[in-house]
Amino acid sequence: MELPNYQEARIRNKKYKTLKYKIEDGFKGKYQNKTYFLKTYGCQMNEHDSENIKAMLEELGFIETKDYMSADLIMLNTCSIRENAHNKAFGMLGRCKNLKEKRPNLIVGLCGCMAQEEGVVKEIMQKYHWLNFVMGTHNLYRLPYILDQSIELNTQQIEVFSKEGDLIEEIPVKRDTGYKAWVNIIYGCDKFCTYCIVPYTRGGERSRKKEDIIAEIKQLAELGYKEVTLLGQNVNAYGKDLYTDYGLGELLADIAQMKIPRITFMTSHPWDFTDKMIEVIAQNKNILPYIHLPLQSGSNRILKLMGRRYTKESYLELFDKMKKKIPSVSISTDIIVGFPGETDQDFQNTLDVVNYCKYDNAFTFIYSPRENTPAAKLKDNVSQEEKENRLHILNNTVNKYFLENNMKLIGSVEDVLVEGLSEKKKDNYYGYTRTKKLVNFTGENIKAGDIVKVEITEAKTWSLDGKLSK
Ligand code: SAH
Ligand code: SF4
Ligand code: F3S
Repeated sequence: MELPNYQEARIRNKKYKTLKYKIEDGFKGKYQNKTYFLKTYGCQMNEHDSENIKAMLEELGFIETKDYMSADLIMLNTCSIRENAHNKAFGMLGRCKNLKEKRPNLIVGLCGCMAQEEGVVKEIMQKYHWLNFVMGTHNLYRLPYILDQSIELNTQQIEVFSKEGDLIEEIPVKRDTGYKAWVNIIYGCDKFCTYCIVPYTRGGERSRKKEDIIAEIKQLAELGYKEVTLLGQNVNAYGKDLYTDYGLGELLADIAQMKIPRITFMTSHPWDFTDKMIEVIAQNKNILPYIHLPLQSGSNRILKLMGRRYTKESYLELFDKMKKKIPSVSISTDIIVGFPGETDQDFQNTLDVVNYCKYDNAFTFIYSPRENTPAAKLKDNVSQEEKENRLHILNNTVNKYFLENNMKLIGSVEDVLVEGLSEKKKDNYYGYTRTKKLVNFTGENIKAGDIVKVEITEAKTWSLDGKLSK
């Protein structure tokens, strides 16, 4: 048994090796024809981990089912970022418990960020004896062994490494589509924003070697992939732990040489977004003019308490530079309201920045205290009602700009990467523009993965309507 420990999780030592994934021959196909159901909570990083989980399970012989009621194995890939992500996973665990009472042979496992939390694992050990295994984010590659042990020994297996350990290459991956791919470039986070649990659940920043990333993307290009998203909690930190003169800007420039029509990345911290990166985005047509630039707050006082390392002024300077240098760039953001002690004036400062930036998209949240984070210890005198009120005002404000920006596109012809047939409107296709705007459109003889020209005919708050352009 190996349990999470926050004190160890805080330590950053930059020593790690790059190793290769391998699975013992005896494991291949061992669970032939058993079914698995996998539920993913959280960010793209977790979604991508789930693509690894699927491939590893399928190597063992498991087959995916979308019906958890009938599955032989249920796995929950969890997220810790806010209380509601937590509650959802525990709700699902409750349903699994009921199922297991009816079908004692059912295997249930929990992995992902919640498994890295001391409190969660303690609770599981006290109250969830029936859960078959728990494994963390740092030992994803150990899934076949941990799962097999829990079945063979018929005992609860808990294996969570507090420290990130080595970087494992070549974990198999089963991608959802043949045209869009996520590629990890850096793991972990060293920023320690005071409200955020990620530096504890994902460990220290570790970049993949540029050769490994480039080889993976080259292969995706050969397979005909149309869009590659470079992933990291803070992609701007790419390379700092490995190289002295090679960062995200250089990596983007190298990847832009490959035959991938769309390259994008997330998430960028405003702190170390370099001029070189802006220049490379501006110069390469296949790097999408889309940047996710989390603001979190427009109040310098709150930004400081959050440990964000920038001010409203330096954020806006960067924002203006992007808008000036990258033609037609679209910028989206994340904003937290109700951080401990946020005053009306602090909130007004956030609204002022929103009114200036007129974001194309924004993800807005009410602050949620997270176990062991410094902000959770701050005195919080803002009522829940007030927080909800601020979120409501903020949402109305950002929505107004989404619509305003979308209206400007009416009459233009946009490149759209087709995702498939729309579920809502019969015979309508849907896909995304180069600035990641959702478009529903009419047309024929199109398939998922095509990039087509669409004339925009109507604008809504969260989507555009259009027709295939001749
Ligand atoms: N690495 C990314 C953020 C990943 S988490 C970055 O720094 O931009 C995604 C978003 O969740 C954050 O940008 C933040 O807005 C929000 N978030 C993180 N912790 C939160 C908390 N404790 N309460 C509410 N929102 C939070
Ligand atoms: Fe969390 Fe900040 Fe790291 Fe983003 S940069 S993952 S918000 S600590
Ligand atoms: Fe959630 Fe972990 Fe991602 S906490 S947002 S799944 S890194």
